[in-house]
Amino acid sequence: MRFEIFTLFPAMFESVLSESILKRARERGLLQVNLHNIRDYATDKHRTTDEPPYGGGGGMLLKVEPIVRAVESVLQGERVPVILTAPQGERFTQRMAAELAQQPRLAIICGRYEGVDERVRQLVVTREVSIGDYVLSGGELAAMVMLDAIARHLPNVLGNAESAPNDSFSSGLLEGAHYTRPSEFRGLRVPEVLLQGDHGAVARWRRESALRRTWERRPELLLSASLSEAERYLLGALAEEWAARAASARHEAATLGAINSLALLDKY
Ligand code: ADE
Repeated sequence: MRFEIFTLFPAMFESVLSESILKRARERGLLQVNLHNIRDYATDKHRTTDEPPYGGGGGMLLKVEPIVRAVESVLQGERVPVILTAPQGERFTQRMAAELAQQPRLAIICGRYEGVDERVRQLVVTREVSIGDYVLSGGELAAMVMLDAIARHLPNVLGNAESAPNDSFSSGLLEGAHYTRPSEFRGLRVPEVLLQGDHGAVARWRRESALRRTWERRPELLLSASLSEAERYLLGALAEEWAARAASARHEAATLGAINSLALLDKY
């Protein structure tokens, strides 16, 4: 897969592209990342890439001409999805990463936090994407996050072919607990089932651990996860366990409240 990244700060990508999985994917020809400096497409003497907004209001906006010139000259009329990174965009998800990994070529324009001239959207952008509800100083980090998450879905990029579908979210659940050697550390033992070599039992334990973790941390994900009868039953048990704990916490709080009130009464 080929990425065309349009940025004012191409050097920011260097370390991310030259380590670990992205480095290997590039060396093996599975991934190509071309960095284009938007400044190279500014034609005035000072190579201006940003200007204050019309109508005032402070801050600087990325100018339309250098970006449009850059994108058009690199894509040469080819129909390629052009993503603009922006906090106002559609939320990036694991599903979107898997979908985008089907594209042979993808362009990403790294916005700046103060914004981009609206005509960039009108002329070249096909999709606007945000990586979360917070504001970054620029779209470079967002582009790197997307690049990494998309590359994990490309064939042969991950060593173990099973890893991507097992990632948190791919199965609709968060990943459960994992352990490696030693089998005991500071009195904490690895669950016995993982040491015994019964693959069926290990698979069941892992699924249960994932279900438990998802239930505890992101229960809304369970609404769209595909679950077996046995898993629904387990969730029912977890819900009961949770309700019992909540009731006992309420009881504890009420008791504490009563004790505090008595203590207050005592004081006065
Ligand atoms: N640029 C600034 N903040 C961003 C965000 N949350 N996602 C994508 N691009 C951004």
